[in-house]
Amino acid sequence: MEVIASAPAKVILFGEHFVVYGEPAMVIAIDKRAYAKAQNRSDKRIYIRSSNLNLAAYFENSNFKVEKGDPKEAKLKFEPVRLAVEKVLEKHGETAGLNIEINSTVPVAAGLGSSAAVVAAVTTAVSTLLNVNISREEVFRITYEAEKIMHGTPSGIDPAIATFGGALLFQMDTGFKPLEVKMDIPLVIGDTGIERSTRVQVDKVRELRERYPQIMESLTWAARQIVMRALEALKDKDLETLGELMNINHALLYGIGVSDESLEWLINAARKAGALGAKLTGAGGGGCMIALARNEKLEEISEAIRRAGGTTFIARKTDEGARIERA
Ligand code: PMV
Repeated sequence: MEVIASAPAKVILFGEHFVVYGEPAMVIAIDKRAYAKAQNRSDKRIYIRSSNLNLAAYFENSNFKVEKGDPKEAKLKFEPVRLAVEKVLEKHGETAGLNIEINSTVPVAAGLGSSAAVVAAVTTAVSTLLNVNISREEVFRITYEAEKIMHGTPSGIDPAIATFGGALLFQMDTGFKPLEVKMDIPLVIGDTGIERSTRVQVDKVRELRERYPQIMESLTWAARQIVMRALEALKDKDLETLGELMNINHALLYGIGVSDESLEWLINAARKAGALGAKLTGAGGGGCMIALARNEKLEEISEAIRRAGGTTFIARKTDEGARIERA
């Protein structure tokens, strides 16, 4: 028997970085998914294979053995998967050998939440295979626990959106709140191809905040106003205002030093080609940018971003969080 499950990637539309200081951030799940196939094994190994990363390894008792790829990378990438599998096995009440095959279409280390999507898909596939009844809240919690190994103190945005899908408003003290979005949000995602560390970017902003507390306070206040205004624009299905707000939000992110030349090239190219707005998404310093556009402009903007050196794909909001594809 085998089960295939999937979970979506995400983009932050508004509020990254300022969210660390208690402001709201708006995030949506996009129609780019990570897939996980789970199968029973006759032995007790947890065998994990990722075709995109070209890695294969297994955990057995306390041993970890790499069969394909760089051992350090395999350990780093597979440890959260193992933890999620173990949490499901705990609920199952007995050990079991499993084959886990990961197939993700989500770019890695680009701020699109690829690791959370993989873990949410694995958790869903394994629990279905073993007939372990788990709620969505539990999928979220397990994914969040697994993410902590990767990121230390993640905000929880990625596991939440990978599990529940749709659109969320996230705030540190109140957690996440589902947003009802009745409009299409056509986006071009441009990947600079430059991997970056969220932690380094967050530290950079913290230092700036220590040096210029009053200025940063004003910018943080402005970031909150942008999110509030964006909520209204979503209600009004006002794509143009959303685009303008993205431009203003990007100006703030540029101001706090988290953009870089590679992102600026792609953002400028997108705007010149007719985007309603464009900004970096996630931690910045490389990674991805997003451009909001009318449907008929998407291809042209994609092309412009590619000419400026990025790789692109067109994305739309998806309401579907972690789900079973085949059981
Ligand atoms: O690039 P990502 O998805 O890791 O985004 C990080 C978002 C930040 O606001 C910069 C950090 C955070 O923990 O929310």
